[in-house]
Amino acid sequence: MERITQRIDPKAIVRDGYNACADVYAPRRAEDDADQIIPLLGVLPEGSAVLDLGCGAGVPIARALSERYRVTGVDISEAMVRLAEVNVPEARFELGDVSGLVLAENAYDAVVAIFMLFHLPRDEHGRLFERVWAWLRPGGYFLVSLTKDRTEPYIKHDFFGNDMYWSKLSFSDTMELLEGVGFEIVRERILGHGYGEQYVEKDEQHPLTLVRKPPAATAAPTPNEASNVV
Ligand SMILES: C[S@@+](CC[C@H](N)C(=O)[O-])C[C@H]1O[C@@H](n2cnc3c(N)ncnc32)[C@H](O)[C@@H]1O
Repeated sequence: MERITQRIDPKAIVRDGYNACADVYAPRRAEDDADQIIPLLGVLPEGSAVLDLGCGAGVPIARALSERYRVTGVDISEAMVRLAEVNVPEARFELGDVSGLVLAENAYDAVVAIFMLFHLPRDEHGRLFERVWAWLRPGGYFLVSLTKDRTEPYIKHDFFGNDMYWSKLSFSDTMELLEGVGFEIVRERILGHGYGEQYVEKDEQHPLTLVRKPPAATAAPTPNEASNVV
């Protein structure tokens, strides 16, 4: 692990890392069981509009979501988007940084972000939550995997043989941000490492949280103190 001591471009490191490993990463990720994630969205009627932030190669998440919902996936890696288009032809995919997305307000019934937030600089997390709130219709859901512990941003050189950037807030800091934006907590559970059963040596725990924009919510919230937790 390398502590960051000089100016770097985190987005370029993430994009280049996934571009380089997409063909190796995608089949391993595809072995994971999306069933432990999707039931959390079983509350949504069929045909609902779902936005998948950091959708990767579309397997297993966008593929499973597409069995019931109209899915739009967004990812910063060209190679991942290309794979997603092949893996899940019924969904729509776009290349982009989730922090720079311009989308219609009140347009989505749910937004999901699975194993993505830890690649986003943590001072962007609060702003992303505010934007997710704006994209969701009142009563819409946000399903997001979080991290347990806060760490200083770091680069590790072992992500499928490539550099990768990580930036993590503690679980409680992130929940504070989500609640500060106005989200209501619906359900929580713990996810494992995300690569299927045979990788038992990887002992990871990722809190998975389902929150909701209250049905009566109208305007986007004004930034508050909670948004400044970094
Ligand atoms: C660990 S993979 C998870 C992919 C997918 N969500 C899944 O569960 O299989 C993280 C994905 O997030 C994407 N990503 C990371 N930072 C991003 C950003 N700022 N904007 C868009 N995509 C991003 C990466 O390119 C990568 O495909």
